Amino acid sequence: MFEPTEEQAALAEAARDFCQGTLTETLKADDEAEVFRPEIVKAMGEMGLCGIPTPEEHGGLGLGYYEYCLVLEEIAKVSASYAVSVAVTGLPQVILTLFGSDAQKQRWLPGLAAGELLGAFALSEPESGSDAASLKTTAVRDGDDYVLTGTKFWITHGSYADVYVVMARTGGPGARGVSAFLVPGDAANLSFGRKEEKMGMRASPTVEVVLDGVRVPASARIGDEGIGFTVAMTALDSGRITIGASAVGLCQASLEYATRYATERRQFGTPIIDFQGVGFMLADMACRTETSRLLVHKAATLKDAKRPYSDIAAMAKVTATDAAMAVTTDAVQVLGGYGYTREHPVERWMRDAKVMQIVEGTNQIQRLVIARHLKKQHGIG
Ligand code: CAA
Repeated sequence: MFEPTEEQAALAEAARDFCQGTLTETLKADDEAEVFRPEIVKAMGEMGLCGIPTPEEHGGLGLGYYEYCLVLEEIAKVSASYAVSVAVTGLPQVILTLFGSDAQKQRWLPGLAAGELLGAFALSEPESGSDAASLKTTAVRDGDDYVLTGTKFWITHGSYADVYVVMARTGGPGARGVSAFLVPGDAANLSFGRKEEKMGMRASPTVEVVLDGVRVPASARIGDEGIGFTVAMTALDSGRITIGASAVGLCQASLEYATRYATERRQFGTPIIDFQGVGFMLADMACRTETSRLLVHKAATLKDAKRPYSDIAAMAKVTATDAAMAVTTDAVQVLGGYGYTREHPVERWMRDAKVMQIVEGTNQIQRLVIARHLKKQHGIG
């Protein structure tokens, strides 16, 4: 857990080389113009980076979340937007691997793992965010089909995805009335509303998805009716590890950049790192980065060992994303006036970090998850 093997390090290095080469070219312009380039995800897929934990028999690398975290950290060091893309196209894969039928796996997994297809996860709605079990989108049985109607909000890859995992209500109120469906991106009556204009993650598209009587065969339902909420929560447990790993990437990039700057920048005749005010700030950034990485790797290692990890994943997500917010903000501070300009990437990293405290369950929801686990561990609830 503390040191990657040679193979693991080589995988991370391949991701680093690709990102520092191809990805850096359009980074600044794409952030400014909010441009997403699906071909970049495809190229990462060709290297195997989009399906790291997906079983080999379904086109993935068949590795663990630990390797996945090493790679996501490297991608996020260059572009948090594309780290999130890889993480989100991974959500349908983890869902299908755990809950999909053989036919569903064969239909979707190889393409998703290869980056030829893009996946999306559609849970949130205009009035259902943290309270995910209150979702209103319906899936009404009609003969051999279901007809889906509703609006999904904040959907990463909305309008670009080839397949959406859509959570919709097939039963009564609450979590037990929810089922999960695979909806192809070219389905009739599926359309796309507003593309959000965002503070950060501007190369990652976030789009409203409208289902206006979308008809899918019953074979598109994932598992039994009523398990959709558990499907979504299971995916989010693992997704929270990937968001944590991406946040570690932002921490590491900011730490390296600010340290280099503070070593080169001189004021009062001295490199500013030698002033305790700056040196201690960098030391705290290093502590936050290391503790976040350890917790993210612990969550990944538990998942890979098939041991319970839901609470540790929530802790990893909270710790790493709160750290990313603090570390990127401090990096801007170390660079002073330069840090506040677009000449340096630290202001972008700070903007990108903010949303990590919100996505895949706000950090308040993570704390609720952790508190519920604590209660259970003490035999209550
Ligand atoms: N794994 C498996 N099953 C789980 C589970 C988990 N981690 N958590 C809950 N469940 C099951 C429970 O066992 C329960 O099942 P039974 O009814 O059979 O007992 C059922 O789900 C309901 O559980 P709760 O009573 O705990 O549900 P709740 O209504 O109190 O909600 C919550 C719990 C943690 C607050 C949950 O609603 C939640 O995580 N909310 C945040 C939603 C979220 O993360 N949204 C992000 C969307 S994705 C995104 O950000 C954008 C993107 O593009 C990636």
